[in-house]
Amino acid sequence: LGRNLHYHDSVESTQKIAYKLAYEHAEEGTVVIAEEQTAGRGRMDRKWHSPKYSGIWMSLILRPKIPIPKAPQLTLITAVGVVQAIEEVTGLHPEIKWPNDILINGKKITGILTELQAESDRINSIIIGIGINVNTDIEDFPEEIRPIASSLAIESGKMIDREKLIRSILEKLEKLYLLYLEKGFFPIKLMWESYAISIGKQITARTITGEIKGKATGITEDGVLLIEDTAGDIHHIYSADIQVDG
Ligand code: BTN
Repeated sequence: LGRNLHYHDSVESTQKIAYKLAYEHAEEGTVVIAEEQTAGRGRMDRKWHSPKYSGIWMSLILRPKIPIPKAPQLTLITAVGVVQAIEEVTGLHPEIKWPNDILINGKKITGILTELQAESDRINSIIIGIGINVNTDIEDFPEEIRPIASSLAIESGKMIDREKLIRSILEKLEKLYLLYLEKGFFPIKLMWESYAISIGKQITARTITGEIKGKATGITEDGVLLIEDTAGDIHHIYSADIQVDG
C-alpha cells in the first residue's frame, strides 16, 4: 500500500480525489493524503473537520475480489489496522465502536468512511477514507464536537509524529489485507472483537428507519452488527449510529 502516493497541501476532500482516481483505474494500494481538507466528509453526509497539519486525512483504493455484501469487512479491517498503528506509535490503547469509530477514553479520535464503486454486482474498487485527529488542540475543534472529540496529542500529552503514524498504518493495513485475502475475515473478526467496546453491552442503534435498543451480541462474518432486543428478536444492523447504554 502507498507505493503510488498522491500528496497534496490543501484539497476539498481526499475521498473525492481517490474516488476519481479509482474511476480512472488507479492501481490498487493508491493512497491520497492531504495536509488540510476544506470540505472533509464524514458518514451520513456529515462534515469532517480537517484543519491544516494537525491530523491525518487520507484515502486509499483497494480492489478486493469479493461480493458487495462483504464490503463492510474492509471498514473493520481498516479499524483494526489503525488501532494497531496508534498502539505502536503512541502507546495509547484505543477502542472501536462499531462500525468505524476509534475512541480513546470514550472520545472520538478517528473516523473511517468506506465507499464503493461497483459495476452491476461486482466491486470495482473500495475507497477507504481515514481521518485521525493527531495533534489537534481542543480549541481547534468546533465547539459542538468538543465534548465528544479528542486527539492523540490531547490523550497522550505529547506531540505525535504524523509521518511515523502514516507509515505504521500502511504497514499494518497491508499485513491485515494480505491475511484477509489469504485466510478470509475470521482471524480479523477476532482481532476486531478484542478491541470492540459495544459487544456484550446494552446499546441503542439509530438507523435511518428508527431506533433499535438491545444487547449487541456480536458481528456476523460480513461485519454486520447483531442486536438482540428484549423480546429475543435478533436485528441485523447494516448502518447506524451506536450509543452504548451500559
Ligand atoms: C466518520 O466518522 O464520519 C468518517 C470520517 C472520515 C473522514 C476522512 S478524512 C479523509 C477522507 N476524506 C474525507 O473527506 N473524509 C475521509
